[in-house]
Amino acid sequence: MPISVLVVGGAGYIGSHMVAALLAGGCRVTIFDNLSTGHRDAVLGGEFVQGDLADRATLDALLNARHFDAVMHFASFIQVGESVREPAKYYANNLAHTLNLLDAMVAHGVHRFIFSSSAAVYGNPAQVPIPETHPKQPINPYGRTKWMVEQILEDYDRAYGLKSVCLRYFNAAGADPEGRLGERHEPETHLIPLVLRAARGRLPHVSVFGRDYDTPDGTCIRDYVHVTDLAEAHWLALEYLLAGSASTALNLGNGAGFSVAEVIATAGRVTGRRIPVRDAPRRAGDPPRLVADAARARDLLGWRPRFDALATIIAHAWQWECRAP
Ligand code: UFG
Repeated sequence: MPISVLVVGGAGYIGSHMVAALLAGGCRVTIFDNLSTGHRDAVLGGEFVQGDLADRATLDALLNARHFDAVMHFASFIQVGESVREPAKYYANNLAHTLNLLDAMVAHGVHRFIFSSSAAVYGNPAQVPIPETHPKQPINPYGRTKWMVEQILEDYDRAYGLKSVCLRYFNAAGADPEGRLGERHEPETHLIPLVLRAARGRLPHVSVFGRDYDTPDGTCIRDYVHVTDLAEAHWLALEYLLAGSASTALNLGNGAGFSVAEVIATAGRVTGRRIPVRDAPRRAGDPPRLVADAARARDLLGWRPRFDALATIIAHAWQWECRAP
């Protein structure tokens, strides 16, 4: 019997890469997505169910009709600034609707869950690289929803035996090396796709949000991790849960930080284009430096990122950008 996985949010950026990886690995895949930000044509196979996590009856019907070995949950809103302006939207979707999913799983005896968490659970880090044991003090509603779900999962494990792996992504970036999938957020707020749009002339310039941070070149430092490596980590987390291992939370990053200026310079080399840059004020809520200590994912899952070079991450994103109209 192939492994059967329900991928919630499988039409989104990271979810669609996950679906492709599961299909390539011979899994039976069901995708559940409301297409509020995802794209139907990003789902390269499997059974697609258009539905909303707010709708418990549809979830119950789905879990009644199918057996799932595990659920992966990629469906959440991800814009930090928006979460500050519209917290209700984030608490409804990222928290309440996730509870619907967890409760439906418990009711139908599905007890393996892989959750897309975030480095945002750490807030402004006191220590870099950041280990999983670092205090969790999120500084915005987005990060709080991720941390709340992680805490709920601890309680659901104790009470209902729901086993979970929370994967705390640092900066997801890059695109399918085969060029089939990539990042399609609207509006796009992430650095690498915006830099590449500017390189291609789809944007007049890219803004650098602050050059006065306490970093070597004054711009913010992030740990960019390839979306295909994130999908690989989910595979390993799935095998980990299937082996009966204990619930855990793991950082996913390369452990190397690059500044905004370094990203723009690398993109210039990769694309061979001049990238118009404009200095802009700091963006509220941006910590100066976020870099993962990902030793635990290495030790526990055997995760070894394949596409850890920034130039490779940008090259794959560029291949995707060049396919956009
Ligand atoms: N930046 C710019 N100009 C831009 C866009 C971004 O200078 O036009 C800078 C930001 O200030 C930041 C860095 O580039 O210093 C990276 O910004 P992103 O928006 O690409 O990524 P973030 O680090 O803000 O966000 C990431 C994830 C989010 C998640 C957040 C917190 O992409 O989904 O981490 O964990 F919410």
